Amino acid sequence: MESYPPISNKCQHILHGADYNPDQWIETPEIWDEDMRLMKLAGCNAMSVGIFAWSALEPEEGRYEFGWLDTIMDKLAENQAYAILATPSGARPAWLSQKYPEVLRVGPTRTRNLHGQRHNHCYTSPVYRQKTEEINRRLAQRYKDHPALIVWHISNEYGGECHCRLCREAFRSWLKKKYDNNLDNLNRAWWTGFWSHRYTDWSQIEPPSPIGETSVHGLNLDWKRFVTDQTIDFFKNEIKPIRELTPDIPVTTNFMGTYTGLDYWKFAREVDIVSWDNYPSWHSDGLSTGELASKISFVHDINRSLKGGRPFMLMESTPSLVNWQQVNKLKRPGMHMLSSLQAVAHGSDTVQYFQWRKSRGSSEKLHGAVVDHCGHENTRVFREVAELGAVLKKLDCVLGTTVKPQVAIIYDWENRWAIDDAQALRRDKKDYQQTCENHYRAFWKQGVPVDVINMDCDFSGYKLLIAPMLYMVRPGVAERIESFVKEGGVFVTTYFSGYVDENDLCFLGGFPGPLRNVTGIWAEEVDSLYDSDKNALVFSPNGSSGPAGEYAVHTFCELIHAETADILAVYKSDFYAGRPALTKNSFGCGRAYYIAARTENRFLDDFYSYLIDTLDLLKAIDCELPEGVTAQLRTDGKRRFVFLMNFSEEEKILDLQGIYTERITGEELLERISLSPYGVKIMEEVNDNDYQY
Ligand code: GLA
Ligand code: ZN
Repeated sequence: MESYPPISNKCQHILHGADYNPDQWIETPEIWDEDMRLMKLAGCNAMSVGIFAWSALEPEEGRYEFGWLDTIMDKLAENQAYAILATPSGARPAWLSQKYPEVLRVGPTRTRNLHGQRHNHCYTSPVYRQKTEEINRRLAQRYKDHPALIVWHISNEYGGECHCRLCREAFRSWLKKKYDNNLDNLNRAWWTGFWSHRYTDWSQIEPPSPIGETSVHGLNLDWKRFVTDQTIDFFKNEIKPIRELTPDIPVTTNFMGTYTGLDYWKFAREVDIVSWDNYPSWHSDGLSTGELASKISFVHDINRSLKGGRPFMLMESTPSLVNWQQVNKLKRPGMHMLSSLQAVAHGSDTVQYFQWRKSRGSSEKLHGAVVDHCGHENTRVFREVAELGAVLKKLDCVLGTTVKPQVAIIYDWENRWAIDDAQALRRDKKDYQQTCENHYRAFWKQGVPVDVINMDCDFSGYKLLIAPMLYMVRPGVAERIESFVKEGGVFVTTYFSGYVDENDLCFLGGFPGPLRNVTGIWAEEVDSLYDSDKNALVFSPNGSSGPAGEYAVHTFCELIHAETADILAVYKSDFYAGRPALTKNSFGCGRAYYIAARTENRFLDDFYSYLIDTLDLLKAIDCELPEGVTAQLRTDGKRRFVFLMNFSEEEKILDLQGIYTERITGEELLERISLSPYGVKIMEEVNDNDYQY
């Protein structure tokens, strides 16, 4: 295993910086010099500029003002900093909406927005495409050889959907292509015999709408697929001039974690580097710090997995607080360092913020920033940012390193769409993402690296493949799971798997449909439980090694038959007492487990501990991790960097097995060490031999 090249050859350091809006301060340009002074003090080296700067760049149609941006780009370069240069399509000038109303987005109830806000353009409008291409071309022409330019930040947080006439027409064309111009194919795929919904003409098809159709699941799915494709198509139009003029400058767009509106697996193929915006509610009263940290780690791992392990960018995070959560709590001292290094631990080669300087007016004026309205560096937040900046400078060694986990969890966007749409089970408790996160947490606690992939990814490099609630099984997936298991892999799946195909049509002949062979079970019915209902999964007393005793189950209990599978545990009560709740099917050289009920997390911890041990899965570190502490690994195959992080409010003690050098302090670590609350250590293993996989 080798490391990846840096994001840009121009810069061999971890990028540290923020969304920077000098265009808001165009009338007081002296502040720009102060910005540069403060950036250096904060150890910042990369600024995202121009994200919402269209009205400053093109104040009137065809009249361009690049002077201010020239100055900023030059100043960045003079100060050994870089520009992550944005295209401005995320928000547009008023003149544009006024002259070309077709660019204004139309909502699902078919009403056209007035001009205002942001992230609300039509993705289909030829005018908007032409205008964005034009401004992007000018930006690329002007800055293509500028020494500060290292990455293109295309638009901002693409999202939402448009229901205008142009988009509706585009959707129909998309459908015609998909269904070979044959309406019967579409009627069949969407099961339109239901409620007499059969279409006889393409023009009858309307995107889902609260004032129209919402009950045809195939339509809902195809619409979501179309929205992803159309957004990507818009993005491709944006990058046309950029690819042409700056073929060597990488392109990214900032994703939003597990945002459900876009299938990021499709989008990731089109960008050079994945980047994402991360805003956890640290210190909230619901979850413990460790529980929340594990959820965030899950999303970081998605972002690393999206490009097969390639380091990603943490494009936005807050240095202190946000302004849009119900309770906008300050990050407690130490959390900024810890949460930023958490991103690096999972493969980010950058730490960036929204925002550099608080704006003076409008809705984000009280959102956290590196530089506050007081305007100077003598603030707690600035000091913490500067402290992190100093630490990041010591971490050039991790740049481009990654991890090759032996475990993968499938978290699939289309599967989520189908589950969210299913009118079944306990409708408020389907919780697909939460379920995947619960399975993930068992590995996080033990410092076992995990990839989070979708069902189209290659499974062959893993020892353990986990697919919680794999409700949708697209063509070919079951076959690939079968060969994975046949060749010795271990597969784990759960209740509510193998129900529907890629059109959201139920598999006939018994669930889990195409997974029936590999799991060796038939799922006949599924029971939903009230919170007051109690049941448990009980291991047989004379069972084999592994977890034993009794574990609570809740919310869902599937009633399954073991066909070729062995029964490891059964239900404790209700009319299905004694029926299988956990099975294992030997299949080829591997095996497949089926967890028929939603279990308490203690079961997942014990069950996966057993698999971690028996499969001897790769761990970041070979030592017991106390509650709230995780360890993550980055390596180039030779050097191993272990990020040890304490996501708890208490000091934690660990007994190390090996010898390490701490990269921040340079101290040698061995035997008993202590991690302060929110403490983090980046430890390089001292090892004479090359690390072997
Ligand atoms: C998003 C946007 C930013 C800013 C932040 C505030 O991530 O991309 O422009 O509005 O939220 O948290
Ligand atoms: Zn539209």
